[in-house]
Amino acid sequence: MSALLRFDGKVVLVTGAGGGLGREYALAFGERGASIVVNDLGGDIKGDGKSSSAADKVVEEIKAKGGKAVANYDSVENGDKLVQTALDAFGRIDIVINNAGILRDRTFGRTSDLDWDLIHRVHLRGSFLVTRAAWNHMKNQKYGRIIMTSSAAGIYGNFGQGNYSAGKMGLVGLSNTLAIEGRKYNIHCNAIAPTAGSRLTQTVMPPDLLESLKAEYVAPLVLWLCHDQCQETGGLFEAGAGWIGKLRWERTQGCIVRHRNQAMTPEAVREKWDRVCDFTDATKPATIGESLSTLVEVLSRLDTDEGIAPNPTSAAASAT
Ligand code: NAI
Repeated sequence: MSALLRFDGKVVLVTGAGGGLGREYALAFGERGASIVVNDLGGDIKGDGKSSSAADKVVEEIKAKGGKAVANYDSVENGDKLVQTALDAFGRIDIVINNAGILRDRTFGRTSDLDWDLIHRVHLRGSFLVTRAAWNHMKNQKYGRIIMTSSAAGIYGNFGQGNYSAGKMGLVGLSNTLAIEGRKYNIHCNAIAPTAGSRLTQTVMPPDLLESLKAEYVAPLVLWLCHDQCQETGGLFEAGAGWIGKLRWERTQGCIVRHRNQAMTPEAVREKWDRVCDFTDATKPATIGESLSTLVEVLSRLDTDEGIAPNPTSAAASAT
């Protein structure tokens, strides 16, 4: 059997680690030698209230198994304080797992300013603040591993979760850019979309499914992505029930809908719509450079007049 993946000497901050997925991550890192900051505000599912008991319990669990851990009870909105706890207790910060989360599900028309703002403050802004507080330490030590927690609701959309979907997809964008900016400092950043039974999902999943989708089936992905041996960065992974898959963008070949020196019309778009949306021979652009190079190619094709042939509709439209 290959050697166990260990985290001796590494300092890990797990936000929202007082329960659910975060607790599993904290326990798993703790069992494998890391020093853990167990952060949890200890509020309810909607973000109300506060208590130190959730984080304290997990710290005790880690210590009972011989691990090293300290608690932090601040909201992720005070990112500096979370990272300071790591520095004060263990002298460094190596790995940040942005996991804390709440739900305020509402159909879009009923979403209040508070429903929108609280979700964004905890998920997107919280992850930003915690990660920014750790970033320069990671840069200086030329080492860092960051996880952003997205969601299938963000990737695909979900009824009644406009606020949450937007925040969760925002985290994918942030993760993509941190992967690019972090590369030369050996800082890796990946996003995950987990599915697990927890207090967040107990209202939407039947009890037997909740029971079988254990949080412990997601933790091994997080540990692997954060290990020295793993070179993955800028990835997005779905995980649940012991299954892990990677996502990427797919783009149609597309179609040029204008002709050199002629007005571009909505009628020409209509005419070519099937081709615009035809995924036959789809490409998989992975960088903004790959995305933009298509446009450069289009411009050169238009220069040599390989755009669409003029048609009666566009000619009529440009004449009026
Ligand atoms: P959970 O409710 O069991 O755990 C979230 C923890 O975050 C709680 O202990 C809570 O006290 C803490 N927390 C909330 N606001 C905080 C704040 N401002 N500062 C610090 N801690 C705070 O939920 P679960 O399911 O373990 O969720 C973990 C993450 O995974 C969340 O970001 C959630 O959106 C995400 N997720 C979970 C899915 C699932 O199937 N369980 C599906 C998709 C995403």
